[in-house]
Amino acid sequence: MRQAGLNNLEIFIAKQIERNGSMPLGEFMSIAMIHPQYGYYINSYPIGADGDFITAPEISQIFGEMIGAWVIDVWLQMGSPNINLIECGAGYGTLMADIIRVGVKIPKFVDLVNICIIETQGNMRDKQKSKLSNYTVSWYDNISEIIANKPSIIIGNEFLDALPVEQLKLGNNGWQQRFVDFDGNGFKLIWKKADKHLLELLPDKTLSNKIYEISKAQIGFIKESSLLIKKLGGAALFIDYGHNKSGYGETLQAVKKHKYSDILKDIGQSDITFHVDFAALKRNIPSYITSPSIVTQRDFLLSLGIKHRAKALINNNIDMEDIIKKQLDRLISKDQMGDLFKVMCFYNGDIKPCGFIL
Ligand SMILES: C[S@@+](CC[C@H](N)C(=O)[O-])C[C@H]1O[C@@H](n2cnc3c(N)ncnc32)[C@H](O)[C@@H]1O
Repeated sequence: MRQAGLNNLEIFIAKQIERNGSMPLGEFMSIAMIHPQYGYYINSYPIGADGDFITAPEISQIFGEMIGAWVIDVWLQMGSPNINLIECGAGYGTLMADIIRVGVKIPKFVDLVNICIIETQGNMRDKQKSKLSNYTVSWYDNISEIIANKPSIIIGNEFLDALPVEQLKLGNNGWQQRFVDFDGNGFKLIWKKADKHLLELLPDKTLSNKIYEISKAQIGFIKESSLLIKKLGGAALFIDYGHNKSGYGETLQAVKKHKYSDILKDIGQSDITFHVDFAALKRNIPSYITSPSIVTQRDFLLSLGIKHRAKALINNNIDMEDIIKKQLDRLISKDQMGDLFKVMCFYNGDIKPCGFIL
């Protein structure tokens, strides 16, 4: 194998391919993102103007405050019990810190909330630890590790799109699946016979030679979350870049320094994501769980009163007016995050979560 010009992660992946044959796209994405030594997240602090991309909690504190209001409302409707408040993929810990900042104003909320974070990456955990240093937090690698001994409220912003995806297409030789191959010089994407278990996850209507994306990892995560709220109740809220109708088309992308890059170049040094197929996730929610229609981030935040909160913030910081207005625009405008990002909720219990048509 020619190793010149390859970084450590690329050498690792190339060796795996030489040993085991070409690698399913999802496995490649998982290694690229969360390899414990050389993966993207472990070696970088990618969120923010100086990084590769920006997320809503890092744009404005108002985002986290709105999610905080949603969490508190659900908790009050549940009868203010002792709960697990679980954040999946918490980045720099900003969203959880903003939720708790709202929560300290509500009697007993902070005392009755057991903060849990699902986070695989040590460097991210360190950031979260310092942001949440005044609180007791437990960390987990996977949601399945959390014991359902109390109700749960689960949240995740831009978490699902970091989980691995597979691409499939119906070609002349039947269903094909995307794999990553290495030819001694570089990596390339190839098509091979598809794993038949993946086909079971596809919607009924399928067209030839169109690319379908399906994420077994996301579906598994949604099922685990449902299981967690099955016995003692609770609710889940996931926000991500995605669509609310299953379709075809390739959305897999790599981003570096806020620009698109090649998923097979500088592996481990750019973020790889894809648009979440919320309809596919909704189809896989068990029947004992209630799941209202998916809404846009714009409609969700407007119905929670984001404009009123922005106005109040401006009144208290008049010299920040332009900045706050710009941040608000970024979160809710149709041509910014407002329509591209969708919000999905599911719950178990006698509650009516805000922001959805029930
Ligand atoms: C795009 S960032 C979003 C961070 C944060 N939620 C925000 O909105 O700023 C994705 C986060 O998920 C974490 N992550 C990625 N893959 C993961 C996995 N398989 N399990 C748990 N966490 C993961 C990353 O380390 C990072 O903290």
